[in-house]
Amino acid sequence: MPTAPAPADSLLYLSGAEVVELLKAIDPVEVVTSAFLALPNGRAEITPEAALRWTAPDGTAARSLVLPARYADAYGCKIINACIGNPDHGLPRAHGLIVLADPDTAAPIGILEGGHISALRTAAVSVAALGAVRDLGAIRHVALIGGGRQSRTHLELLATRTSLATVVVYDTSPERAADFARAAATLVPAATVTVADSARAAVHRAEVSVAATTTTTPYLPLDWLALDAVLLNVSLDDATEDLLLGCGYLVVDDWELVRQDETRLLGRLARAGRVSGPGMPTPAGGRAVDAEVGALLAGDGPALGGVPGPVVTNPFGMGVHDIAVAAHVFAAARDRHAGTWLPR
Ligand SMILES: NC(=O)c1ccc[n+]([C@@H]2O[C@H](COP(=O)([O-])OP(=O)(O)OC[C@H]3O[C@@H](n4cnc5c(N)ncnc54)[C@H](O)[C@@H]3O)[C@@H](O)[C@H]2O)c1
Repeated sequence: MPTAPAPADSLLYLSGAEVVELLKAIDPVEVVTSAFLALPNGRAEITPEAALRWTAPDGTAARSLVLPARYADAYGCKIINACIGNPDHGLPRAHGLIVLADPDTAAPIGILEGGHISALRTAAVSVAALGAVRDLGAIRHVALIGGGRQSRTHLELLATRTSLATVVVYDTSPERAADFARAAATLVPAATVTVADSARAAVHRAEVSVAATTTTTPYLPLDWLALDAVLLNVSLDDATEDLLLGCGYLVVDDWELVRQDETRLLGRLARAGRVSGPGMPTPAGGRAVDAEVGALLAGDGPALGGVPGPVVTNPFGMGVHDIAVAAHVFAAARDRHAGTWLPR
């Protein structure tokens, strides 16, 4: 059936359930790779993230992040809000919306539930980066620190691309670790799933470790990881300074976004003049980032293995990946006549 024209002066709302269904037809790693490759030649663009932070009445940290971006002719922004206390009240930590705009008039044309897309694009960026530094099909041992949505989504995606034999999870909440282990056993039935009693024990033998916690206190030092391990530092404040400065190969998604960030450790090290960007002179007593993910995917990154030690990826998070995935979901929704038209 051909795509029907949009009703006049209306926009299409896609609920979380509709987004999840439409995402099944999309390869998120392919989409984020294409967005990375579109950036250097101007087919995509990002702006700095805007962040509003506050303390919720229960004393936990809350925030609202707004990430505008363009991917090809898809313009929009992600609004992703989170409160650390939500899981204790039975709610997801993060909720979000993605707003897509008409390229001709700039009027909003779509509002998509954003939590699923945000989690999936984050995992897809990790897997794209991992695939650029390792043979995905050969990966057998993975550790996940933090048993929340990000770890779950990473494991779901890794399960489809790797040959997992062992999955180890550690969470400061034993209940969340146990819940995660049960879900992981169903998700990856061929793997042995265990709960570790410490983060160190979890990452000790892992080829790939995913840090997806809510810590703001780095705790994961260089000597916990095998020399040939990869740490996907998704929550950005797990790796300690000695790991970021001493790892064999340090990868970021976007150096400018990392450099502008005043809150996470790598941004603070950059602002203190101790970490420089890819291709820049190495600061005395510090280091340069080795590569951005996009350069690795384009085959332009410096060779791996020059310096012994683990690979660390530090993905700040780029709105262009949310908009790219959302644009595919929106197009699929129009094709399938999914969603609810709302008057503008
Ligand atoms: N870099 C990116 O692009 C990006 C994108 C999305 C989310 N994130 C980050 O990923 C993190 C995880 O998000 P989520 O949605 O899975 O959160 P979540 O609340 O669903 O899960 C986090 C889990 O980590 C556990 N935890 C907290 N501190 C821990 C510690 N020190 N050691 C072990 N476990 C610990 C919690 O008990 C919880 O189960 C957040 O910090 C979020 O900001 C990063």
